[in-house]
Amino acid sequence: MAQGLDVGTMNLLSARQDGDETVFVQQRNSFVEIEYSDMAEQMLSRSDVLHIRKDNQVYIVGDDALNFANIFNEETRRPMQAGILSSDEQSAIPMIKLITEQVVGDPKYNDELLYFSVPADPIDDDTSTLYHQKTIESLLADMGYQPEPINEGMAVIYSELANREFTGLGISFGAGMTNVCLSYYAVPVMKFSIARGGDWIDEQAAKATGTPVDKVTSVKEEDFSLDFETDVGGVEGALSIYYDNLLDYVIENLIKEVDEEDVEEGLDVPVVVTGGTSSPDGFEALFEERLNEANIPFSISDVRQAENPLYSVAQGALVAARSEEQRSAQAQVTEDAAEEEAQTD
Ligand SMILES: Nc1ncnc2c1ncn2[C@@H]1O[C@H](COP(=O)(O)OP(=O)(O)OP(=O)(O)O)[C@@H](O)[C@H]1O
Ligand SMILES: [Mg+2]
Repeated sequence: MAQGLDVGTMNLLSARQDGDETVFVQQRNSFVEIEYSDMAEQMLSRSDVLHIRKDNQVYIVGDDALNFANIFNEETRRPMQAGILSSDEQSAIPMIKLITEQVVGDPKYNDELLYFSVPADPIDDDTSTLYHQKTIESLLADMGYQPEPINEGMAVIYSELANREFTGLGISFGAGMTNVCLSYYAVPVMKFSIARGGDWIDEQAAKATGTPVDKVTSVKEEDFSLDFETDVGGVEGALSIYYDNLLDYVIENLIKEVDEEDVEEGLDVPVVVTGGTSSPDGFEALFEERLNEANIPFSISDVRQAENPLYSVAQGALVAARSEEQRSAQAQVTEDAAEEEAQTD
């Protein structure tokens, strides 16, 4: 057994193999702090809401945070921002620990292998992902897992490009970030992230139209699509503008990075897009159009969207974990056989 975990700014998701099926467990990476009261006590005792009480405060984490925030008129908070643990949030670590424990559960045996996603360092921001990576790693090790980081873009390649010999460009459009990875026969030849994603689109569209961010997010997630002309002046119009802007920004940085990294000329690769932000209808077509218009220094055979944009990073982390597990089991068999032979000599 081995496990995959997608540690995202908005969603935490684990993936495990059960026979022929992959089982996913998901929670929102968010929490709310409310004051302890009889009413809170009653509500919490009647349900299996994930929470911890600390003195006179109660922290409700995961999917239920939003419901409690609405009832108690509080704002939800997030342990992560722009792809990594938030330095502005004092409770970030205990909260993400609680959500992680719920999503991955106990290891099936001591030191079970678990691959968890980490973003590449952003090229448009001076934050480093190291502290984030090491903190998540130690939380998982404390739980009894053997944790291994995997780049988020590379996880996309593992889940979506197995039938293309793990060669291509994988892009995960998340909440806090966009992660890009170019892989050649399962070797990452270029990877980077951009500190913009769905949160950035929401914030910009909210500012432009004077609408609360939460409202913008729900319009975007419920019935927004990119395949027709939307209302000028409204929230959907603003969302379209910032979607367009994000895509251009990603492509501009892609060209810059390919130039700097001296990627081999004459490549012809597939592109696969995933992540919650790639969900709206028309996203794939729009991105393909923008790529065709741009002067990309390699050729693109096709652009495809992952079947389950919210699941593919966890799925890819699982694929990587299982193949490493098989590889090390195989190596162990070979080692044992060699030892046996040495003994009989
Ligand atoms: N149907 C939808 N249409 C548009 N956007 C959506 C939809 N569903 C989710 N999103 C957006 O997708 C984002 C969350 O995607 P995802 O779970 O891939 O991100 P994450 O992995 O948590 O973040 P990151 O990788 O940046 O750390 C949010 O911005 C959310 O608003
Ligand atoms: Mg993600």
